[in-house]
Amino acid sequence: MNEEEAKNTIDRLTAIIQYHNTLYHEHARPEISDYEFDQLLAGLTQLEEQFPELRREDSPTQHVGGTISKNFATVPHKYPMLSLSNTYSIVEVREFIARIQRLLSGASIEFFCELKFDGIAISIFYQQGILKRVATRGDGIQGDDITHNAIHIKTIPKIIQAQGIPDAFEVRGEALMPFYQFEALNQIKIANHQKSLANPRNATAGMLRTLKPSIASCQILACYPYALRADGIPLNTHEEGIRWLEKWGFNVSPTYRKCTNIAEVIKYIKYWETHKKDLPVAIDGIVIKVNNLEQQDRLGFTAKNPRWSIAYKYKPAHIATRLENVVYQVGRTGVITPVAHMKPVLLAGTTVKRASLHNAREIERLGLHIGDIVFIEKSGDIIPKITGVDTTQQKPYNKLVKFITHCPACGTMLIKPENQALYYCPNKRTCLPQNQATLEHFVHKKAMDIQAVGKKTLALLLQKGLVRTPADLYVLRYEDMHALDGFQDLSTRNLLRGIEQSKQQPFERVLFALGIRYVGEVVAQKIAYHYHNIDDLAKAKREELTTIPEVGEIIANSIFTYFQVPDNLQLIEALKNAGLKLSKATPEKLPQNSLLADKSFVISGTFQHWDRETLRNLIRSKRGKVLSSISRKLDYLIIGNNPGPAKLAQAQKLAIPIIDETRIVRMLGSS
Ligand code: IVH
Repeated sequence: MNEEEAKNTIDRLTAIIQYHNTLYHEHARPEISDYEFDQLLAGLTQLEEQFPELRREDSPTQHVGGTISKNFATVPHKYPMLSLSNTYSIVEVREFIARIQRLLSGASIEFFCELKFDGIAISIFYQQGILKRVATRGDGIQGDDITHNAIHIKTIPKIIQAQGIPDAFEVRGEALMPFYQFEALNQIKIANHQKSLANPRNATAGMLRTLKPSIASCQILACYPYALRADGIPLNTHEEGIRWLEKWGFNVSPTYRKCTNIAEVIKYIKYWETHKKDLPVAIDGIVIKVNNLEQQDRLGFTAKNPRWSIAYKYKPAHIATRLENVVYQVGRTGVITPVAHMKPVLLAGTTVKRASLHNAREIERLGLHIGDIVFIEKSGDIIPKITGVDTTQQKPYNKLVKFITHCPACGTMLIKPENQALYYCPNKRTCLPQNQATLEHFVHKKAMDIQAVGKKTLALLLQKGLVRTPADLYVLRYEDMHALDGFQDLSTRNLLRGIEQSKQQPFERVLFALGIRYVGEVVAQKIAYHYHNIDDLAKAKREELTTIPEVGEIIANSIFTYFQVPDNLQLIEALKNAGLKLSKATPEKLPQNSLLADKSFVISGTFQHWDRETLRNLIRSKRGKVLSSISRKLDYLIIGNNPGPAKLAQAQKLAIPIIDETRIVRMLGSS
């Protein structure tokens, strides 16, 4: 490669890496895996080593990836929060150890090995034993003040009462969401028809950075500390710092190990490679640290990394298979999602045959052709992902995948809002999958609860032209239904009765059933609490809407836009005429119990605020029902510490929303 080519490649790689850095750190929405990212960075590092004079000032190899956000107060770090150099190769681990041994010219060296937790790095600052501030890593020099959210993490001590604690100290650690909490949270999202979260890391980032403290469910997060910085106590080794943290009640993972030679380090690496699946949280590798602090000082730092430490990262599980087709799905809001259909393969325990391709940009990035051999990966993500194409096996006749220009269902030309990577079918009126999804949401158990109308019936009604919008359900006639295949007298009457009964559903249910983007069950309840009828809500300005708890700019914008669309206003009029409740029955004595009334709860585990009996009484006082066993009809399972595994599994199986103490506290508080 000549100098000009190298410069071009460096510029290109820098731009690509910066793009992915922004997605990862600012939006918690990565498009490539950590492994792919590390490969890009390694490529750039190698080029910079070959052409040192071409290294750019703003090179991502020289700076920590994150940035600080305008939305939070900025906290300068007393000691820079650096990242670690990493490798996927045991040979490089050997080289690292040999280099250290050489640089410390034969001194005896201890290596302290720890797990590399795959979450969000945080700095926790204490004064006089009291937690004062929690900050993110940010750009390494300064981070975001996330104290208001992180304070809810149970395993972060708020007050430390111990002999001889230094006046001020800082603890560095990783905040993460345990797998079981992540799965429970996604169950709730799915039940509420919300987009599920891609992985626990993204979920943690989102929770820590939420701007609305009322939805800070950070109680379900864990924190594993891995470093102590204190001026007051003399420390000789990293291990001593870890021992102090243990004594002061921090949740240090007991998985660390002190090693004195490369064989022990490799044994540790191999052990956790096979056992990481048994851990409650995600790790993406292990970290090797020189234990002696004086030796650490002698080794020092590069611009970005300490020379006394390295992370060995596990390669994510991946496999190759053939791309057979790309199918485009039309969602309720008209969004088009490309889905790759592949030859089924077994990967990390499950058969994979489909993977979302997210958007048009992703298809372009991968340069996919039908028939290509593609690599799929699961890594920390539970959802499989295509990470690349085996170009060596690409056949010249394989057809390039080009994103569709028209809706696969109704043929309408797709639109792409500016600054978005997504294409939409704008035909809300007659695009069948959109109508079908809107109706499915409307009749859903959590919405109007019209159980007699299932997916198949809706498809049939749409196909026969008997129904297009939810309002059409209320004008269905006995004769129309009875004439349809499979509808006898009894089933027809059943269906019509179900529809009729749904008219009794309260205002908040109707609001949720409308399917306004981002208006889930809880948000609908909050809105109904503030606006006693739909006409007032329809007139509300964006700024006014953001004063509702849980409603931020995005939700406010979505509500506001919904009421600007004539078809939506027409639908609401038709629903009003049909007799649905589009206002609160008795606004003056607004339910002191809207969230819990007639809802059933099972309680499992122990709780921070109350004993179980008190919690039971509190729920009953708000007209909720407390049951002892889980059934299909249950509304919520409340879990505290150490919930019963059988109850948890059963609730998950029946897709019953699982809520934690923060959520029930919130529900009780706001009702
Ligand atoms: S030590 C000077 N130890 O990995 C670097 N980091 O790229 C101090 N991490 O930002 C970091 N587990 O978020 C250290 N046992 C561990 C870790 C760990 C996870 C994360 C941390 C850091 C990143 C390094």
